Amino acid sequence: MTLRSARLLVLLAATALAPPASAKDGFVLDDEVAICAGCHGEDGVPVDPEYPAIWGQQYFYIYTQLRDYAAGRRENEIMTGVAAEYDKDQAKQLAEHFAAQTWPAIPSQAQDGDEALANTAFTAAQCSACHGKWQGDSRIPRLAGQQAGYLSKTMHDFKTEVRMNAPDMSNIMKQYDEPTIEAMARYLSSLVLH
Ligand code: HEC
Ligand code: HEC
Repeated sequence: MTLRSARLLVLLAATALAPPASAKDGFVLDDEVAICAGCHGEDGVPVDPEYPAIWGQQYFYIYTQLRDYAAGRRENEIMTGVAAEYDKDQAKQLAEHFAAQTWPAIPSQAQDGDEALANTAFTAAQCSACHGKWQGDSRIPRLAGQQAGYLSKTMHDFKTEVRMNAPDMSNIMKQYDEPTIEAMARYLSSLVLH
């Protein structure tokens, strides 16, 4: 056996023994949270209208999204790489941290006519059967007061199946044209939970 093939064998053996999702080395929660803050905001208000608020989002929803990005069930040029760095336990710690924060105040983007158009769509698709009053619950995300730019982008991603982790949501969004999706997104951004 040559030295080169011996090295290759050692390498293959190491790969076979590696756990399926490797933990990020030197994981310190505060340091990771500071990385997230660069986009999701120091105070919970994201730095870009197309980035979602994650402060105060549901624990189990945050956790499943991190796992879905890491596994390729949800595709995004930024978050796929970010989420792939963490194993399950680390993803749980991040989800616990963000779920425990206070939801930020995000300026409403609603325009005249959005409420009527959105409510017609909500009734037709029976959104409330799963989303209730948009407050979120476990696997169901909070949408009340979410960023309009993000909501419209992700509903479009469901429609075009860039986001593949919720087939029900894709089927629903295929029924709506872009102006309706944008009206729903702007109206949801205006909702305040009491
Ligand atoms: C470079 C910017 C950037 C960084 C850093 C970043 N994110 Fe994100 N995050 C985004 C963007 C953009 C999206 C929306 C992606 C999409 O449309 O699918 C997103 C989406 C998410 C979502 C899904 C939210 C939802 O409502 O579905 C979660 C959860 C999340 N990020 C958590 C994190 C955590 C935890 C960290 C730190 C470990 C982090 N992100 C770091 C930009 C970033
Ligand atoms: C059959 C149940 C069901 C119905 C009906 C439903 N949803 Fe959803 N929706 C979900 C689930 C579950 C998720 C979380 C999917 C995941 O884990 O990625 C979701 C996610 C979403 C998201 C993504 C939020 C985020 O933070 O990324 C939006 C936006 C959304 N729904 C809007 C709507 C609207 C608007 C309607 C009605 C027109 C609707 N949904 C009807 C179950 C439903």
